[in-house]
Amino acid sequence: MSLDLTKIRSQFPILEEVIYLDNAATAQTPQIAIDAVSEFYEESNANVHRGLHPLAEKATEAYEDARQTVSKFINSKYSEEIIFTGGTTEGINLVARSLGESELKEGDKIVLTTLEHHSNITPWLQLKNRTGAEVSWIDIDDEGNLKMDELDSILDEGNVSLVSVTGLSNVIGVRPPIEEIIKKAHAEGAKVLIDAAQLAAHHQIDVQKLDCDFLAFSGHKIYGPMGVGVLFGKKELLESMPPFQTGGGMIRDVSKDGFICADLPEKFEAGTPPVAEAVGLKIAIDWLNQFDWKDIEEHEDKLIQLAVNELGKIKELTLLGSKNSSGSLSFTIKGIHPHDLTDILGEKGICLRAGHHCAIPLHERLKVEASTRLSIGIYNTEEEILRVRPSIEDAARVFS
Ligand SMILES: Cc1ncc(COP(=O)(O)O)c(C=O)c1O
Repeated sequence: MSLDLTKIRSQFPILEEVIYLDNAATAQTPQIAIDAVSEFYEESNANVHRGLHPLAEKATEAYEDARQTVSKFINSKYSEEIIFTGGTTEGINLVARSLGESELKEGDKIVLTTLEHHSNITPWLQLKNRTGAEVSWIDIDDEGNLKMDELDSILDEGNVSLVSVTGLSNVIGVRPPIEEIIKKAHAEGAKVLIDAAQLAAHHQIDVQKLDCDFLAFSGHKIYGPMGVGVLFGKKELLESMPPFQTGGGMIRDVSKDGFICADLPEKFEAGTPPVAEAVGLKIAIDWLNQFDWKDIEEHEDKLIQLAVNELGKIKELTLLGSKNSSGSLSFTIKGIHPHDLTDILGEKGICLRAGHHCAIPLHERLKVEASTRLSIGIYNTEEEILRVRPSIEDAARVFS
């Protein structure tokens, strides 16, 4: 069954205002999820876990229900493996701080790839400075594919503690072979974290099948609210890790001399969590769950292929990386800075993004300072994609 785009778009009135092709930065939120956040504040607003009055019970129930929904969404074995965070960035920082500082020592290695978003680079560089651990890099070929022989060599050298890799590039839309990476890393005793910030919006995730140790994503990129994200971690690992932040909500007992942590997941949720946002995320996931992933992938693949074909007709344009991208593609145009281009497109109501997209090492590898990114979501149409090329050609004429 194909997607009913008219019905889908009716949930996103904002799409009547603009052609929104900046989904890798933030996806739009269906009205039903926006309403769920408002309703939470209108009808259930209270802090969770700490009160026995009816509103506190209602809020706690809604929050824990959201955790169950996320657990099913990525098929985690236990719901306590789902930690609500502020987003992907916080999830990765949590692992870098907690696992990193308790387990890693001088000479241990963390393996990253050239494809990574800064959120999956800087926490590890910070950890390197703190512990003396080393960061090793897997490069890509010109199409953006990881050089897997470099992973083999690094693993052969030994001492690899963790491989942290994106499931889908936020710039060139390439999908690293994460199943293979996880198998290889595990064979050498290394753990694997998947940055699923982009992957979660475009493809089904099954953490048990993947067998990843950690996986992080953000609510706002999968049609949920901003300010909430998810870190999945295998239960035995999370149980053995020290808390990331301490404070209210994460303790079982406190004295003047020390404290005892609460069990999972509270141990990693210090302070007041993003309750209304988690409730909105649950409704966004319920909304997304009504569609078949096969239909989403087919639709989005068609849009990306159309965009590749259309953009390929612009002679000044160079597409970065592979033509087989998913979700996002990026390009440069001879003679126009990406910022100027997106400015002009923005004036026509076409929203693309310009810059390094928080991936400076990748841009350096591709030998460009900045690029323009077109990134799609479930609600985009072929008509919208077809509006892009003439607008770019108009801009090219202005600058020629
Ligand atoms: C691949 C990737 N990782 C991490 C992030 C950071 O996500 P957030 O800003 O929601 O924490 C992004 C955001 O664009 C991303 O694309």
